[in-house]
Amino acid sequence: MLAPILQDAQGRTISYLRLSLTDRCNFRCSYCSPLAMEQHEDPLSRPEVARLTGIFARLGVRRVRLTGGEPTLRRDLVEIVRDVAASPGIDEVALTTNGQALAELAGPLRAAGLTRVNISLDTLDPARLQALSGRAASLPRITAGIAAAFAAGFEAVKLNVVVVRGVNDGELAALARFGWGHGAIVRFIELMPFGQGEPVPLAEVRERLVAQGLRLEPDATRGWGPATHMRGFGEGAPAGGGLLGFIGAMTENFCEGCNRVRVAADGSLRACLGGREQVSLKALLRDGTPDEAIGDEIRAALMLKREKHEMGAPGNRLLPMVGTGG
Ligand code: 5AD
Ligand code: SF4
Repeated sequence: MLAPILQDAQGRTISYLRLSLTDRCNFRCSYCSPLAMEQHEDPLSRPEVARLTGIFARLGVRRVRLTGGEPTLRRDLVEIVRDVAASPGIDEVALTTNGQALAELAGPLRAAGLTRVNISLDTLDPARLQALSGRAASLPRITAGIAAAFAAGFEAVKLNVVVVRGVNDGELAALARFGWGHGAIVRFIELMPFGQGEPVPLAEVRERLVAQGLRLEPDATRGWGPATHMRGFGEGAPAGGGLLGFIGAMTENFCEGCNRVRVAADGSLRACLGGREQVSLKALLRDGTPDEAIGDEIRAALMLKREKHEMGAPGNRLLPMVGTGG
């Protein structure tokens, strides 16, 4: 039998699954607009997640990122990670979290087989953090979570910074230095139009980093996702420069070479973050459809995947970010 390769309509190989475990979140980030979500979906159960991951792995998926909402709100997160990590064919299991519960969870998650963690951190100012992400957001807890993630020995710890004009664009170099000081790579993310706030194009983000005292050089590092990298030098940077990531969903080649497929918190497959096409895998998992047939549905859904998102197009209503998981 040929090695399984999952492809989309554009002939791109799909090897990376982003799976949302819940649409609930203890934060209220204004750019994510979770307040719009008064009703919560019934997420996939732990056995359903394990079964679905197995199906995707047999189709050729190698990397799984668990997202939300906030995935640490799932009481069974450590067990879910253990199941996914044990799925034959899955090489990497990553988590995207707001970091609030990571001080307690980093060690158990690492032991369960989690390999990477991305933590959202938009500001180093406690009051600004609460203004942006809600009263539950505690900078000391997140910082403790980042330290615990570093101590747990993950292959990578990354800090996600969504850049919002007039909010955190004055502290970009400070965030870069904070990341380097904590053994983490900071990634600057262009704001996508899911909630409030004005975006800052990545070209301007780079200019601001320079104005804030860093020297930048191109760096050829490529990860699994759409990030491109630069090396930063100057005060607070490690010897030889420190890596910085840039994710330009709106102004750069975000969709080029896309290798991702998403399953949202409602158990639906989303071929593209910016699209509205979806197939309810949850319904298939629950109505006795055999694995092979679910695999066929996944292949068919990916044949609807377009070349690029159209998030910037006028009148394009997006599905909420909070249940899609970034
Ligand atoms: N634009 C860009 N990134 C976003 N995220 C959430 N909402 C947006 C948005 N509107 C990111 C968060 C987090 C991940 C879950 O998705 O920063 O890192
Ligand atoms: Fe929660 Fe993340 Fe959305 Fe913030 S961006 S509200 S932490 S899911």
